[in-house]
Amino acid sequence: MATILSFAPVSYSPLPATKYPKTPIRFPLFTSPPLPSPSSPSSSGFTSSFLVRNEASLYSSPTSIQALTEESVDSSALASSSKLVFVVGGTGGVGQLVVASLLNRNIKARLLLRDLEKATKLFGKQDQNSLQVVKGDTRNAEDLDPSMFEGVTHVICCTGTTAFPSKRWSGENTPDKVDWEGVRNLISALPSSVERVVLVSSVGVTKSNELPWSIMNLFGVLKYKKMGEDFLRESGLPYTIIRPGRLTDGPYTSYDLNTLLKATAGERRAVVIGQGDKLVGEVSRLVVAEACIQALDIEFTQGKAYEINSVKGDGPGSDPQKWRELFKVAESK
Ligand SMILES: NC(=O)c1ccc[n+]([C@@H]2O[C@H](COP(=O)([O-])OP(=O)(O)OC[C@H]3O[C@@H](n4cnc5c(N)ncnc54)[C@H](OP(=O)(O)O)[C@@H]3O)[C@@H](O)[C@H]2O)c1
Repeated sequence: MATILSFAPVSYSPLPATKYPKTPIRFPLFTSPPLPSPSSPSSSGFTSSFLVRNEASLYSSPTSIQALTEESVDSSALASSSKLVFVVGGTGGVGQLVVASLLNRNIKARLLLRDLEKATKLFGKQDQNSLQVVKGDTRNAEDLDPSMFEGVTHVICCTGTTAFPSKRWSGENTPDKVDWEGVRNLISALPSSVERVVLVSSVGVTKSNELPWSIMNLFGVLKYKKMGEDFLRESGLPYTIIRPGRLTDGPYTSYDLNTLLKATAGERRAVVIGQGDKLVGEVSRLVVAEACIQALDIEFTQGKAYEINSVKGDGPGSDPQKWRELFKVAESK
């Protein structure tokens, strides 16, 4: 396994891409001392500047002691990429894994975040060529300035909120605002030059009036996700929709990049992909994150929606050919 992360400080600037300062802004976010990585610092590439916010969760988490194995990206896949992937929801359970995986593949990422500090807490200090951060809330169309999409080749949107009332709804961050209006605002702001937009939606969106989905949809989450999907379909942008079953593993909140790169799907590594909204089941967040990244490069997934579950057994890991076959099989069912 090779990890080629660069830990030069990142510019945490809410400025649009064209206005990124040439010299990174450096400022410490935490006063806690650097924490040694559970794995060998020299082999992982972490430096003493890597800061960990939540030591207790790092060491008490079962995830953190799992071996970094099958989901690691092979060094042959680490050629520098020409992609610049705009990730929305990169601090969430799936989103963190998407970002970590992009970094591990040496694919440049630009994150839209409501709270810029979360990036350092989650991903450490990164070279701004690898990871850029812009501030914005998808509910506010005016936050999505066109300049923030300059150079962006691909988009992965994994925003969401809880299906039922919770403190995460505070400030009206409700499914209608996030899964519908936020997605609509994002899609409306994207340039026509993007090569693929991957939207994370949900199984059950086409059956939100039927049990058991109608229970999940009591506050409209499935209805609003479907509205977001439809808006993307009608946008003319090249898209792929990924509809996960119930998410497991994670959300890895308050962990850090080192921990994220060690995340495994446990025994639930085998991937089941379907079409037609017939799948019912669960899926590892790691598998969903990988599906989003793989779909970017599989041309026949363009313009389609796929449901995804994961079950006990060996999975495709990050092998592009295996993922291609899984998506293909879904189409033939
Ligand atoms: N949970 C399930 O079982 C399940 C099942 C099927 C589908 N899904 C869907 O799968 C996706 C990933 O789920 P998850 O549980 O991994 O996500 P999550 O942990 O809930 O993360 C949600 C992400 O969305 C961001 N976000 C929320 N409101 C936003 C706003 N107004 N503007 C910008 N960003 C905003 C959050 O940022 P902050 O850090 O700023 O809050 C966070 O990064 C979501 O679309 C979810 O609906 C979930």
